[in-house]
Amino acid sequence: MAPTKHTWQGLRLEIMTPKFPPGPGAYFRPSRDYPYGQGACFQSLSLEEVSAEFDRSIIEWEGSTCPQILSRMFAQEQNLFPNVVITQCVRIALGTFARPILLEEDCMYGTSDEANSSMRQLVALVKMLEMLRKTHAITDVYFQEPLFNGVEIAFLTNLGYKVLQDPEAKDKITNSTFLFAPHCEHSVATQHLQKCFPAFYVGNDPEYILRKDQRCREAGHSSIFAPYPDIPVADTFARFAEATFVTKLYRKLNPMWQGDLTVRWLKAGSRVVDVRSDKR
Ligand SMILES: C[S@@+](CC[C@H](N)C(=O)[O-])C[C@H]1O[C@@H](n2cnc3c(N)ncnc32)[C@H](O)[C@@H]1O
Repeated sequence: MAPTKHTWQGLRLEIMTPKFPPGPGAYFRPSRDYPYGQGACFQSLSLEEVSAEFDRSIIEWEGSTCPQILSRMFAQEQNLFPNVVITQCVRIALGTFARPILLEEDCMYGTSDEANSSMRQLVALVKMLEMLRKTHAITDVYFQEPLFNGVEIAFLTNLGYKVLQDPEAKDKITNSTFLFAPHCEHSVATQHLQKCFPAFYVGNDPEYILRKDQRCREAGHSSIFAPYPDIPVADTFARFAEATFVTKLYRKLNPMWQGDLTVRWLKAGSRVVDVRSDKR
């Protein structure tokens, strides 16, 4: 029988120490939601359990309004952006399917739904790739997530995807890449937009983040990008916003998929943008 998310018995215990500690951002969710840090504890699922969760999420997706919303959007927008060519996909920051071990104190703030959210995002990506492949010859699909354990790597590999080690994904972003990065930290997203803007992007809305930063500063607070003094987050987001056409996904895909996400298509003429070499 497939385990529910409340079934703890029989699951293996695993201690994971992320290789890449996130920067402390003003809007980054605190450790109650995301148990980072030394010795953060997760209960990992077996390969069979991850597969069962995946199958369950596919059924959930098919029964929701998401397929209709997305296929309508793709049908309209692929006509609007005939110059966009997508040959590969890079998924950064999927998260882990392992369940964080929460103490009663953690539950004071509400429990984390991170693992479910990662699985839903994987299903959304699989379904988007199915739609995109009707008109784009997408060959390789790469995943990079420092938290992946062996089971997750094996599961994604079995699906035909390639798992990269940080920082390999940066070099995979080209002007014909689909970059899928929902809820990726600002600093990490920026680092993956610096070499080249992707042809197609689904992820946090850079314009929303910039507006939020502006509002924050107007209210007398420090910039939300202050924790990353060496990473040109605001500049990169502004250029990326300028270089792309946007569709808002916000609310439309809720409650299946929460967040202020956008879909962005690269404008013709903005195809290759090496921000690192631009001293403007
Ligand atoms: C805020 S979590 C989002 C997880 C999941 N997508 C969600 O929406 O629930 C950000 C994720 O980015 C991952 N991450 C951090 N650095 C990364 C890197 N260099 N490349 C890829 N993923 C990274 C973290 O491990 C974390 O799982």
